[in-house]
Amino acid sequence: MADMRLAEERMASSDKDVAEKAVRRWTALDEDFHREGGYSAESEAGSIALSLGLAAKVLDQPLETLSGGQRRRVELARILFQGSSTLLLDEPTNHLDADSIAWLKEFLAAYKGGLIVISHDAALLNKCANKIFYLDANRSTVDIYNLGWSAYLQQREIDERRRKREQASAEKQAGALKAQADRMRYKATKARAAQSMDKRAARILDSIVEGGGREKVARIRFPDPVKCGKTPLMAHGLSKSYGSSEIFTDVDLAIDRGSRVVILGLNGAGKTTLLRLLSGIEPGDTGEVELGHGARLGYYAQEHETLDVTRTVLENMQSASPDLAESQVRSLLGSFLFIGDDVFKPAGVLSGGEKTRLALACLVVSGANVLLLDEPTNNLDPASRAEILEALSRYEGAVVLVTHDDGAVEALNPERVLLLPDGVEDLWRPDYLDLIALA
Ligand SMILES: Nc1ncnc2c1ncn2[C@@H]1O[C@H](COP(=O)(O)OP(=O)(O)OP(=O)(O)O)[C@@H](O)[C@H]1O
Ligand SMILES: [Mg+2]
Repeated sequence: MADMRLAEERMASSDKDVAEKAVRRWTALDEDFHREGGYSAESEAGSIALSLGLAAKVLDQPLETLSGGQRRRVELARILFQGSSTLLLDEPTNHLDADSIAWLKEFLAAYKGGLIVISHDAALLNKCANKIFYLDANRSTVDIYNLGWSAYLQQREIDERRRKREQASAEKQAGALKAQADRMRYKATKARAAQSMDKRAARILDSIVEGGGREKVARIRFPDPVKCGKTPLMAHGLSKSYGSSEIFTDVDLAIDRGSRVVILGLNGAGKTTLLRLLSGIEPGDTGEVELGHGARLGYYAQEHETLDVTRTVLENMQSASPDLAESQVRSLLGSFLFIGDDVFKPAGVLSGGEKTRLALACLVVSGANVLLLDEPTNNLDPASRAEILEALSRYEGAVVLVTHDDGAVEALNPERVLLLPDGVEDLWRPDYLDLIALA
């Protein structure tokens, strides 16, 4: 391509010889390019980008300015276009809207190469997987099931029931051995036999301990909100543009104490931008954000930008809760599954789910009375997701929620909805649920 550009420049040369040579060179290069599939490559890349809903305008933007959903689409378009024989995809549906997810499912189901995917999207797994690797953290093993998703679920349940039965019977056997040993222990002639029975019972118990643990789940409870005035957060006439593209104009919002608002809009509609304006991280072009008496905001950022990646888990928590003693902070971190040396890891090395848990833990200690939550259930395993939904439904402070997870909206039970980019506010109606997958 660079050679072609050079030839193009030389074609415009005033020196005739140079220009003619350049034309010949360009023609030869053009043929090569054609033969290698260069032109169709561009249109193929374009069509993948288009199927993933990437507008031409977005393709020229620097990556760091893209919205969460747009960035995932670019990453996916890049990987899918490479024509590799094996794809490794880690949570490919996160942040995507419904159309893109539907397209991706079709693409992967028809994909001829190998596919290794990590996903919490059961429908995607149902459609694409024919082998499941289950990493069981409690037993520290990987179980391999040569089955599709729903058959795997059934088989795993059968296996778990069997393990429970085996465990119960092993416990019974060990108990009987110990009881027998206790009866024999004090007879000199039988003391040795009693000892070996004890050992055997201990061995039986050892062999089942691993399987006995329950799945580890973060225990999430949002803080009791500190007291505040009637309307802790208000925004008037907020507008934001980047260059010539207007994201939204003239958005008004009043968040009363304890009220619940959900913000809906397509990938790139400006949801994250609005939350950044509300949280004071970024100024609007016009309008203002006003905090009411005693207002304390807790902001959960879509890409965890509020975490300091260079500092450790513990330091991040301590800066979110300067008043707490280290022992209290560590015990709270424990309930978010950061145990032992985990707390000394820099936040930058954490997995997506771990970052989510840390960011939530920081929110929990903040005592906020208004939570601004930007897709807080992404990256979480189903059990931890259920915990945060439960925490959300119990929280008594005000919540402004951005999500494409309809379960999260149901848990929030919102009173109002704000639609972006129009900035129209409406009372919540159940038929808005249909729109959520688009958000
Ligand atoms: N610094 C910037 N320069 C140019 N465009 C930007 C910049 N920051 C954001 N944008 C654009 O603003 C629009 C709104 O982005 P925003 O992150 O608010 O979207 P969103 O509604 O949160 O989307 P998603 O559902 O994908 O998270 C997007 O089209 C994005 O590409
Ligand atoms: Mg966003």
